[in-house]
Amino acid sequence: MSDLIKEPREKILVGSEVFVPLLTEDQIQLRIVELGEQLSKDYKESVPVFIGVLNGSFIFMADLIKCVSIDCEVDFFKLSSYEDEKLSSGKVRLLKELNCDVNGRDIIIVEDIVDSGLSIKYIEGLFSEKNPSSMKVVSLLLKPDSLKYNVKIDYIGFNILSKFVIGYGLDYAQKYRNLRSIYVLSEES
Ligand code: IMP
Ligand code: MG
Repeated sequence: MSDLIKEPREKILVGSEVFVPLLTEDQIQLRIVELGEQLSKDYKESVPVFIGVLNGSFIFMADLIKCVSIDCEVDFFKLSSYEDEKLSSGKVRLLKELNCDVNGRDIIIVEDIVDSGLSIKYIEGLFSEKNPSSMKVVSLLLKPDSLKYNVKIDYIGFNILSKFVIGYGLDYAQKYRNLRSIYVLSEES
């Protein structure tokens, strides 16, 4: 394997900010296998639609559905809230609509991370109008201490501290999504 993609790296420098390893590729993959097995059990009587929230969830979605052993469908829609920064703008905009009809379907929203819960709250409103038969949420990461909205995350990969993270789909000003591990902004930054 090329040295360029060998991970975890000791640190990632973004200007004067330092990011250090939080979750390795192996830790992430092992947890996703468990999530995939659990979802396959819970939805064995159904053909659920996995709905990814772009951009952050694209890598998690790809790995997750490879660990799902039942028939399923996949679609994506796009939201914007962070506007290229580390802090949420506090507003959510729909940038790309869903293509499939979710009326009467079991849907599973796939998120990279839940922070304040604003995006999930918005998504719940958006999808309940479309009359799915059920709606659950799976998020790779949850920052429980950051939650400001009353939302239920049905499947959680990892609970993490309320610090900014990058890698494995998660960006900082649109970069670093391609890292295989997840890195956290270190105290010394
Ligand atoms: P919420 O609406 O405050 O729950 O934030 C959810 C969205 O903000 C996620 O889907 C991410 O796109 C983004 N986000 C939240 N925390 C982080 C982070 O630590 N790193 C990168 N993106 C984040
Ligand atoms: Mg996201």
